[in-house]
Amino acid sequence: MALPVERGEELELEGIEIELLLEGIHRRYGFDFRQYAPASLRRRVRRRMDGEKVETISALQNLLLHDPAVMERLLLDLSVNVTAMFRDPSFFVSFREKVVPMLRTYPFARLWVAGCSTGEEVYSLAILLAEEGLWDRVRIYATDINEAVLAQARLGVFPLDKMQEYTQNYIRAGGTRSFSEYYVARYDGARFARELAEGVVFAQHNLVSDAAFNEFNVITCRNVLIYFAQPLQERVHGLFYDSLAMFGVLALGQKETIRFSPHEPSFEELDAEERLFKKVR
Ligand SMILES: C[S@@+](CC[C@H](N)C(=O)[O-])C[C@H]1O[C@@H](n2cnc3c(N)ncnc32)[C@H](O)[C@@H]1O
Repeated sequence: MALPVERGEELELEGIEIELLLEGIHRRYGFDFRQYAPASLRRRVRRRMDGEKVETISALQNLLLHDPAVMERLLLDLSVNVTAMFRDPSFFVSFREKVVPMLRTYPFARLWVAGCSTGEEVYSLAILLAEEGLWDRVRIYATDINEAVLAQARLGVFPLDKMQEYTQNYIRAGGTRSFSEYYVARYDGARFARELAEGVVFAQHNLVSDAAFNEFNVITCRNVLIYFAQPLQERVHGLFYDSLAMFGVLALGQKETIRFSPHEPSFEELDAEERLFKKVR
């Protein structure tokens, strides 16, 4: 049974080559993917090799160290930008029930949407806050590592063919109006009301290497940390801890948790199912 060993060696070698590739990217471009989850990294590097029509990881490395456009494309592969409006609608129901009453007690609040991708989550929160009469008292800071998705988010134009699905999500999320009031259908897509973006600052921020930049009452970081290995997740938990005001809320995605992390004792579970945690010490 020599084959499994050979396959094992092959994977090990590939692992080492990927480590070297990530080291090179870090040195040349400053993006640090060295602690991303290995299985997902492997898949995405292979996809970029296919995309660039190269056979080896070192050929890919050669290409991307010399051509920032290749780096840009790999960044898009690595950063998995899949998102949706009112994604996981039950999260928004819980947000209305458990976070909105707390926000009402503040004259002004700051929210950080970390890893906002093309902005669908940000516009969803803006709609929810507007419906709760809080939009003029809240500022959202929406950040992502990837400048290309941020540029799209700033436009606030989403695919028209998604509107049926988003309308269903909106209703299941407890939406109280007609969803079509929020956008105008244009040839290039569904253009969302400008006012929804007025309280939003979109900016590039790297959760791996950048520091805290403000104090927040709520931080949402959904479907981002799943791509990070445990030590990196813990680093980011620390960043969120430092960035939250006392009694501030951390909202993670359905597959992510602060449990079993060194920061767990600083948080109380607000909603176990929807992964809402409150900073208590
Ligand atoms: C799957 S999307 C999640 C979008 C949205 N939060 C949601 O739940 O629908 C993950 C986003 O995390 C961003 N991301 C990945 N690594 C990051 C990092 N180190 N710093 C900031 N954002 C990062 C990606 O660019 C991508 O837009």
